[in-house]
Amino acid sequence: MSDPTVIQPGHYGHYPAIMTQAALDTMTRQAREDPDGFWLQQAGRVQWHERPTRGFEGSFEGNVSIAWFADGLLNVSASCLDRHLADRAGQVALIAHREGHGEAERLTYAMLHERVCRLANALTALGVKKGQRVAINLPMISEAVVAMLACARIGAVHVVLFGGFSADGIAERLVDSGAVAVITASVAWRGTKRVPFKETMDTALSRAGAASAVRAVLVVRTADDAVPMLPGRDRDYHDFVDRCDADFAPVIMKAEDPLFMLYTSGSTGKPKAVVHACGGYIVWAAYTMDMVYTHRPGDVLWCTADVAWITGHSSVVYGPLANGGTTMISDSLPAYPHPGRWWDLVDEYRVTMLFSAPTAVRAMMADGDDVVNRHDLGSLRLLGIAGEPISPDAWLWYHDVVGRKRCPVADTWWQTETGGIVLGPVPGVQPLKPGSATRPLPGIEMAIADAQGRILHGAAEGSLCIARSWPGQARTIWGDHARFCQTYFSKVPGFYFTGDGARRDSDGYYWITGRMDDVINIAGHRLGTAEVEDVLGDDHRILESAAVGVPHPVKGEGLVVFIMPRGDNAAGLTGEGVARLISQRLGRYAAPEAVYIVPDLPRTRSGKIVRRLLRKIASGETGNLGDLSALTDTAVVGMICNRVWGEM
Ligand code: WTA
Repeated sequence: MSDPTVIQPGHYGHYPAIMTQAALDTMTRQAREDPDGFWLQQAGRVQWHERPTRGFEGSFEGNVSIAWFADGLLNVSASCLDRHLADRAGQVALIAHREGHGEAERLTYAMLHERVCRLANALTALGVKKGQRVAINLPMISEAVVAMLACARIGAVHVVLFGGFSADGIAERLVDSGAVAVITASVAWRGTKRVPFKETMDTALSRAGAASAVRAVLVVRTADDAVPMLPGRDRDYHDFVDRCDADFAPVIMKAEDPLFMLYTSGSTGKPKAVVHACGGYIVWAAYTMDMVYTHRPGDVLWCTADVAWITGHSSVVYGPLANGGTTMISDSLPAYPHPGRWWDLVDEYRVTMLFSAPTAVRAMMADGDDVVNRHDLGSLRLLGIAGEPISPDAWLWYHDVVGRKRCPVADTWWQTETGGIVLGPVPGVQPLKPGSATRPLPGIEMAIADAQGRILHGAAEGSLCIARSWPGQARTIWGDHARFCQTYFSKVPGFYFTGDGARRDSDGYYWITGRMDDVINIAGHRLGTAEVEDVLGDDHRILESAAVGVPHPVKGEGLVVFIMPRGDNAAGLTGEGVARLISQRLGRYAAPEAVYIVPDLPRTRSGKIVRRLLRKIASGETGNLGDLSALTDTAVVGMICNRVWGEM
């Protein structure tokens, strides 16, 4: 290794690389010169009822439209299950580990197929029809995977809702999506903490009231406690589903029919669901899983992401199953009941590929090397990360201590909107640079734009954009196409705007610098600061608030909130109360690190709050606040600094 910051692929001499650098270059060139030909060929990775002959149709201009493989017909669950029954019916498709429940459940492709068919019949019996939405709100148990595939099988659009959302957060999403049925669990455990899924769902449904279209709720009994069930609406999942028929002919879908929608945070308060289409999404999931993971029979992929995030959709469910692999899920925590718990599981289940978030890597790093060193970890061949920036230090720790310098680390950059990996290495082929998400996969035309929206060439820094559509791209925002056009296509006309900043070095490697909008990333969970401010705006004691993200040693970013009380009406307003309100209304993941109640906020002459300044103050960068001349009242700044850091 000549340059210590570059690890050459030769370092992993044993690594089963899927191609040579020359072949990768050829692929990249073909994709650039003949994108439709290239993608129609890649479409052969999945099973079609009717193979498509049309590639991309649409435009990033004006009223944006995106369609891929429009004349293709398929069913995604058939491509992930039925297709594998001929040659690997007995291979384990899903390993589902539950903390405190002994040996994990292992479902072969045949078993998973059967369970999916039974649930498909059950949903049909409940009156769920093609195109309708079904909300899935489950912990990491096998039923979560079954539920997604069963929706796909009947052509219903799944909406997986995170277990960390509050009742209000769930209610809002049930109403917005128009879900007609819900699949949930009685309770879940996170370590010693009881998470009351059913109670939260009941509260959400009663808050949503007549605005919700939910007619049926299936409840997976995850514990022996009694669960309140509403007759006529609620049913015990296994009592109802296990009696249904074990065969269900997949509903044939058009490639552009929606497969799922998934809520994510943006720079406005209202939650938005991006919509993914059957054909393009599954081709993308299969393609990226193969290029970056080379997921093959015999491999065990453990992606620790919750199924409620895009990583859970693509790297836990659709990518591995589309490629006939074995995927593992677990509801365990990295340090419960003891630090190193995840390393126990890697050894116990002979995990070959471990994929996690930088937050988890930083937390496990803090537990010390000894915890890792006590484990064999010899089954691992590839380590992956996604969701947040990782520092070169944490990358090298993952690589050297966990991977014992034998396993490449694939830092993959992507988004809910991209459907799957966009930037990431083809391991064993490309040199790796710790801290860089490497290069775009073949077929992705990445671009960097300056503040005026001009495209920069060569080594450059600016906003990260994509010049051309790719099959896994989100098609719209549910119920608000104008917002889709505005959010992603108006900043740099003709390009998809990611919202992230990045630097491209002279080797064409990308270094993500973070979000450029008002979205913060707490332990890999996206949160719009406007979402927080919206919630606080509903409290009559609060005149105005400003939420900002600050660096956090483990979570990457943490939330800090500044509150300006309503002078005459703020009795009883406390920092703890505000923190509680945010957790109640949005979810526990949004709990702030600090809340400061201040008499005023820094503003420009036009009255806009200067969040950039608040972020600096909250991060302790008080010596470097920059030019304050645009503020109406500079004394506010000193006052807030004192409030945060004491007399200075
Ligand atoms: C951030 C998660 C740095 C980024 C897959 C993006 C990353 C947002 C990386 C999307 C990475 C994702 N390095 N930052 N490798 N991967 N991000 O939609 O800011 O939950 O815009 O999808 O996470 O988050 P999302």
